[in-house]
Amino acid sequence: MDGAIAIVTGASRGIGHAIAHSLAARGARVLLVARDAARLAAVAGELGGATAVPCAVDLRAPDAPERVLAACRDRLGPPDIVVNNAGTAPSAPFERTTDAMLDEVLDLHVRMPFRLLRAAWPDLRHSAAGTVVQLASTAGLRGYAYTSAYTTAKHAMLGTTRALAAELGTAAALRIYAVCPGFVDTDVTRGAARALAAGRTDRSEADVLRSMAAMNRLGRLHTAAEVGEAVARLCAERPTGGVVLDLDRDPPAFVDAPDTSPPG
Ligand SMILES: NC(=O)c1ccc[n+]([C@@H]2O[C@H](COP(=O)([O-])OP(=O)(O)OC[C@H]3O[C@@H](n4cnc5c(N)ncnc54)[C@H](OP(=O)(O)O)[C@@H]3O)[C@@H](O)[C@H]2O)c1
Repeated sequence: MDGAIAIVTGASRGIGHAIAHSLAARGARVLLVARDAARLAAVAGELGGATAVPCAVDLRAPDAPERVLAACRDRLGPPDIVVNNAGTAPSAPFERTTDAMLDEVLDLHVRMPFRLLRAAWPDLRHSAAGTVVQLASTAGLRGYAYTSAYTTAKHAMLGTTRALAAELGTAAALRIYAVCPGFVDTDVTRGAARALAAGRTDRSEADVLRSMAAMNRLGRLHTAAEVGEAVARLCAERPTGGVVLDLDRDPPAFVDAPDTSPPG
């Protein structure tokens, strides 16, 4: 991966921060995308200016894909790798799930990744190392209570991934994957636990976090670092055995092969 150029969205903290570190450790140069310019500058400082470049953009802005691509091409060069990781995970009972929650997750997990990939496609297809990783979730594989908007969006993200894998076919140099962790110990998970515990006297945030850990097949929360390593390994090794990698298995396993059957 020496010298490969990667765009990582949501690189200011959590899983994206870990992905940026794992890619940089394998020799990639990384465009760090998120809104918080100060945090991005700190991450770029950790990785070194020659390796990482901050790009402060609100990915919900209509011109975000063009701005990200322009920053990448100007500061680093055409991208070889795109990791669509930025996102939020609002939780609420279905009847209290607002249009604003639905819009946010559809923008961040579906529209923006779709549009960013479409903008980067010519560069990615031209690269011998072209790799896309979509940060999906086990919420894209099954339904979880109190996250109807998020679960909907993550299922759609897997839909994009599978459609593009089918369109590329197995002969293309460009590879596309989705990774599906269960609950990971990051701000998103702790925020969801806080929201679910709010106003309840029978369950604390720590109780909810323990229940989330127990919902993972692994029986514990993933760490951001292990998800970062799994993403970097996909980019480095570019396996051909599948598209959707379930990380909540020991060892992680592809849950499907590229679908090349005719539409119907
Ligand atoms: N944590 C889990 O349990 C878990 C499990 C499965 C999948 N995932 C997925 O993993 C991904 C990362 O989650 P995480 O847990 O690392 O979350 P996190 O710690 O909250 O980090 C989210 C990242 O997304 C960025 N972001 C959010 N809204 C943005 C916007 N409008 N424009 C640009 N950047 C934005 C944030 O940066 P700024 O705030 O600086 O913009 C931050 O860098 C998400 O797609 C999530 O769905 C997480």
